[in-house]
Amino acid sequence: MYKGEPSMSLATDTKFDLQIFKHNQSPPTLSLEQQEIVNLKTEKNAVILCHNYQIEPIQKIADYVGDSLGLARQAATTNADIIVFCGVHFMAETAKILNPSKTVLLPDMDAGCSLSDSCPAEQLADYKQKNPNTYIVAYVNCSADVKALSDVICTSGNAVQIVNNVPKDKEILFVPDQNLGQWVIGQTGRKMKLWPGSCYAHVLFTKESIERCRLEHPNAPVVAHPECIESVRDLADEVCSTEKMVNYCKNSPADTFIILTETGMMHRLTRELPNKSFIAGPTGHCACNDCRFMKMNTITKLLDCLKNTSPEISMTQSLIESAQKPIERMLKWS
Ligand code: 13P
Ligand code: SF4
Repeated sequence: MYKGEPSMSLATDTKFDLQIFKHNQSPPTLSLEQQEIVNLKTEKNAVILCHNYQIEPIQKIADYVGDSLGLARQAATTNADIIVFCGVHFMAETAKILNPSKTVLLPDMDAGCSLSDSCPAEQLADYKQKNPNTYIVAYVNCSADVKALSDVICTSGNAVQIVNNVPKDKEILFVPDQNLGQWVIGQTGRKMKLWPGSCYAHVLFTKESIERCRLEHPNAPVVAHPECIESVRDLADEVCSTEKMVNYCKNSPADTFIILTETGMMHRLTRELPNKSFIAGPTGHCACNDCRFMKMNTITKLLDCLKNTSPEISMTQSLIESAQKPIERMLKWS
């Protein structure tokens, strides 16, 4: 069965048990609701695009599971009539912008993103008015209105490449994630102003919590998402997007890894790399790190959404056109 089951191991100097995910060998079976979703999907010519942070039962029946960049590419090229986006709101919006003739559904319209919320479009418009020559590079984790104000979009998978492509004479403002932006400055040597936003979940990993985890698993490479804070990234053997985590772990000779990102990633990793084990990086307070927005999508909401062809992402044609340009520039540059 494509299921990563956590097993427990008592850490010596932490207050909670670390969660270790391994591949579960039991046979693949679908619940009645999952089977109904699979049937409806075929009947309605729908495709389920699913982010790596979704719950395991959704990942299991998705047509494609991946990171923001992979999902954007899939959304742009699908022939399905309906895209059911199992992720958060800005991702579903991006799918609609890239393929506006399709019906794009999101099982829970409240599945937002703290990082996206940290950059309201009105504030960015105000900044632009005061600094008209600034080149705005926006991390894809932002609203369609923010995308429409930006020059180019990036994801964690291509941020270094995108920033390297920005003409050298331009002054860059990077929005909304200051941690990713700071990491990109280190990788490219390019000066950038950083918007003071962050992901509420990734900043929960602390230097101390990861150092304690490493004491217990000294041979396990640490793999961190660039949304983590600098003192945590500095402890990592590899800093990369969720998709690149799969390749890094596949190509590494190690058999156990400490993964510093949202817990849903463990399902993707255990499914693709059944012979390896993955320790969910502990935060200062807990052994798991779920994004409450990503976890709003459930199997029942996914089924209802397919049955009712709702809730649907909608936006004006002019917003779609303005937000399309910087996303298409990103796809061209990466
Ligand atoms: P990835 O693009 O690396 O999957 O990251 C998306 C995200 O929301 C990270 O918090
Ligand atoms: Fe947003 Fe953070 Fe959740 Fe990613 S993990 S969707 S950045 S709140």
